[in-house]
Amino acid sequence: MSRMGAFETFLVNRLKRRSNERLFRVIRSNLDLPFGSECLEIGCGTGDMAVRLFDAYRPRRYVATDYDSAQVTRARTDIARHNGGHLPETLELRTADALRLPFPDESFDVVFAFAVFHHVEDHFWRYELVPRAVSEVHRVLRPGGRIVYEEWVHKPRIRDDLLRMGFRVDRWHRGNLGLSELTIATKTPPRTANKPPNSGQ
Ligand SMILES: C[S@@+](CC[C@H](N)C(=O)[O-])C[C@H]1O[C@@H](n2cnc3c(N)ncnc32)[C@H](O)[C@@H]1O
Repeated sequence: MSRMGAFETFLVNRLKRRSNERLFRVIRSNLDLPFGSECLEIGCGTGDMAVRLFDAYRPRRYVATDYDSAQVTRARTDIARHNGGHLPETLELRTADALRLPFPDESFDVVFAFAVFHHVEDHFWRYELVPRAVSEVHRVLRPGGRIVYEEWVHKPRIRDDLLRMGFRVDRWHRGNLGLSELTIATKTPPRTANKPPNSGQ
């Protein structure tokens, strides 16, 4: 797995801040979160979307994670600055690899992933590790929970994987330059086997 170089990180952080405003507006008009929701964000970068989403939804718990500890440090500083010098109690920041999420099964109601799936690969055009990251999201989501993600590279393949894993794809939107897409999908509860009719009563 490759870590972005310092220049790439700088560039991506600057560009993403600009395009995140639009992304946030689309999410806000298409996603309602039940009171008391617990949210995870993978690959949070500078925490720019974490700030916006946390302010808008005020979830019971928001855990923003990134593989790169330097990004987590940046996010911690920026989020604290935005909140008068301290992190809100219900907003946690952690270093975590999207391929091995350090969280128990079925522990979140929503997972956010913006422009991160193609970054789990050595080279962005490969599609070897992305399914593992998607299945980690599936594992940590509660039944009925949702994944909200932006993707630039592997759009149809990720959607196919979601369907194969038992997600229902609710909607997707064309994003920046018509190249990225924002998708919202729901983890459907496992099918319950047909019960035999009551007998002997
Ligand atoms: C293009 S940036 C997007 C940042 C942020 N999500 C946003 O949209 O503003 C991709 C981020 O994914 C992170 N990343 C790359 N590989 C990762 C992995 N295996 N697990 C978690 N995060 C990863 C990078 O460190 C980087 O911060």
